Amino acid sequence: MSRPGAVPRLAVLASGEGSNLQALLDAGERGNLPGEITLVISDRDGAGALQRARTAGIQALHLPPQAHPSRGDYDRLLARSLADHGTDLVVLAGFMRILSDELVQSFAGRMLNIHPSLLPRHRGLHTHRRVLEAREAVHGATVHFVVPELDAGPAVLQYRCAVRPWDNEASLAASVRRGEHLIYPIAVKWFCQGRLRCRDDHVLLDDQPLRAPAVLTRDGAMALAAPPI
Ligand code: GRF
Repeated sequence: MSRPGAVPRLAVLASGEGSNLQALLDAGERGNLPGEITLVISDRDGAGALQRARTAGIQALHLPPQAHPSRGDYDRLLARSLADHGTDLVVLAGFMRILSDELVQSFAGRMLNIHPSLLPRHRGLHTHRRVLEAREAVHGATVHFVVPELDAGPAVLQYRCAVRPWDNEASLAASVRRGEHLIYPIAVKWFCQGRLRCRDDHVLLDDQPLRAPAVLTRDGAMALAAPPI
């Protein structure tokens, strides 16, 4: 943390509904998030995430990309806003912009993302559709540290659920989203407690290397050394 002993300051970047932001806010309300969300940034004016932030009394910043057409300029503005708020951890929660390498590197080991698939399977978009098309039996979500390559950073924690015979894209999306709301607050809590770190692209939990992501299943079981799928 930039200020040893201080409560970590979190900035959440989101383009959409903000249900993951809400899960983090709710965890905070329950006294289960030892960090303070001090800033929410969105590239979309109508993002539900901005409204949720305002309702919670958190500074909500809309940064329209149209005003800064070059990615470098936009990301420098982002970086300035994050620095102005003394951000310790950047939490990407459905932020639908690719970040410049420079911005990602300036938060190396201090930027998390949540992706709706069991990475490294299904990087990118339309993950639920692709899982159904491939007739896979298991699906889920992954919290990972962010590196310049998209959806490629070291995985920290996954939610895994069985794909049921009657699942369609919408039902699968809903199951995965419910799982996201469980795992993101846990991973952010670990980071805020100083238990979770990333060194040289390797995840350390309680100073032990995580050779595979920790896994939470639909029945609520947590496994630190879950077998690969
Ligand atoms: C989530 O599905 C997350 O995995 C993806 O974007 C979505 C954000 O949803 N990165 P919300 O805005 O938090 O509801």
